[in-house]
Amino acid sequence: MNESIPQLLSYDEPSLEAAFATLAEDVRTTAAETAADPEAFRLHWLGRKQGRLKLISEAWLKSAPAEARKPLGIRFNQLKQQIEAALEAPASTASSPAAQGIDITLPGATRAPGIPHPLLKTMHEIVAVFHHLGYSTNLGPQVESDFYNFEALNFPPNHPARDTQDTLVIAHQQSRPSRDRLLMRTHTSPVQIRTMIDQAPPIRIVIPGKVHRNDAADATHSPIFHQVEGLCVDTNITFSDLKGTLDHAMKALFGSAVKTRFFPSFFPFTEPSADVQISCIFCNGKGCRKCKHSGWIELLGCGMVDPAVFAAVDQQRTAQGKPPAYNPANISGFAFGMGVERIAMIQHGISDIGHFYSGDMRFLEQFA
Ligand code: DAH
Repeated sequence: MNESIPQLLSYDEPSLEAAFATLAEDVRTTAAETAADPEAFRLHWLGRKQGRLKLISEAWLKSAPAEARKPLGIRFNQLKQQIEAALEAPASTASSPAAQGIDITLPGATRAPGIPHPLLKTMHEIVAVFHHLGYSTNLGPQVESDFYNFEALNFPPNHPARDTQDTLVIAHQQSRPSRDRLLMRTHTSPVQIRTMIDQAPPIRIVIPGKVHRNDAADATHSPIFHQVEGLCVDTNITFSDLKGTLDHAMKALFGSAVKTRFFPSFFPFTEPSADVQISCIFCNGKGCRKCKHSGWIELLGCGMVDPAVFAAVDQQRTAQGKPPAYNPANISGFAFGMGVERIAMIQHGISDIGHFYSGDMRFLEQFA
């Protein structure tokens, strides 16, 4: 708010007109500025000792020639009415912006544009790499049944491989058959089953989404995290297709200089199974703290779809009156699954997974 008393250099009609137009504008601006505090507005203009109306009228009337006193008095009265009207129509109840003392020609309050969360950004990047290869996207529920999350993926009840997936189960399911019991999905792989029951080959899909595990949170674990799953099923799909596809995807995500290697591993739903490692992007494979001096970073699991999975799918298709479509004699496929947090952490050199969920603007703004 402008506190100095404005000068009135001449008392002719045009000068008065201009001077009072400026004052009227001042009233509107201060009304807008003090919309939340009408008493401050009242004191500013009508305060008995320091109110601007009193100070200005005294200053201007004191040196006014006799014939200018009347027009000045009329104008100060009008100004006072304007101030009182603004006080009687508080911003919240006034009907028009003008009545609220709001200058609608002022620039509005700006809001910083939003950005995609770094995890979503990485997830979209991964999905986009596969979209360019002709894959489409499928989604599935986070509350899943034992059948889709485990049984159809060749984890039989009580199989020790289930122990690797610390499962959060939904309470009060004991009276249900084991395959119908509900749980929070521990991986995105159940959507492979859902897709194949729905669709006959050829299939090329990626499945991004949230997964849940009974893990204590630490620098690299979170009970809720994200995966992107992939599934390609057709005639004549071989392990070479798997290697070529994932090698391309890793180069697209981490740069064309990155090398991949495939290590034997185990997943119940793929045979053979492999862990994919990429050459360390921090030291170019020379060995550093980030790759534990091995030169390689383990990134994802993959393998050829196990015939037992195709059998479970066809059994379910038949039960639903659909023709079987996954005879392993002429159909084969590969699958893969990767953790989005892990990939984003490597991409950006983030050492604590908790940053993604903290909502700390100082962290998030770095991705704007
Ligand atoms: N579902 C596995 C997990 O969460 C990851 C995975 C491994 C997915 C191999 C796959 C695969 O599709 O073929 O640990």
